[in-house]
Amino acid sequence: MNPLTVPVVDASHASPHFEAIGGEPAVTRLVDAFYRQMDTRPDARIIRAMHGPDLAPVKTVLVRYLCEWLGGPKRYSEERGHPRLRMRHAAFPIGTAERDAWLACMRAALDETGTDAALRDKLMLAFFKIADWMRNNGS
Ligand code: HEM
Repeated sequence: MNPLTVPVVDASHASPHFEAIGGEPAVTRLVDAFYRQMDTRPDARIIRAMHGPDLAPVKTVLVRYLCEWLGGPKRYSEERGHPRLRMRHAAFPIGTAERDAWLACMRAALDETGTDAALRDKLMLAFFKIADWMRNNGS
């Protein structure tokens, strides 16, 4: 099944991951840390260059996407429709190096924001599945 359409939790029930991570303020801190990592890590240069100079707009979108994915408010799909993330990333050449750079930024952001280790590991596994599925150039 498409990993993007499967929320980490069943959003029709309580949202333990969204609440466990600390709700929207914590997701916003995580996304800020993620793009700060992307902006500064030498191993993320290739993926940073795929983004525009101003990261503020994509930060807002990623916060909304992750809130929804974690079982919180569904603002992403209300505003942008079905995620279709593979299609939305089709313009960017993504291979294993790009996948691993994205994951390294996210792992560092989860550590920097003090996310509980068990939750961090669970999220990293889920992010790996999505990022790996996003590969589109055979490398
Ligand atoms: C695998 C390596 C990845 C690369 C190289 C990458 C790169 C990008 C780029 C260049 C953009 C466009 C930014 C802009 O509009 O300026 C983008 C958008 C986005 N990315 Fe990624 N990404 C990756 C993985 C992921 C993963 C794993 C997720 C989710 C967990 C994700 C979620 C998003 C979202 C939600 C957007 C905004 C989509 C929209 O316009 O609605 N990305 N990404």
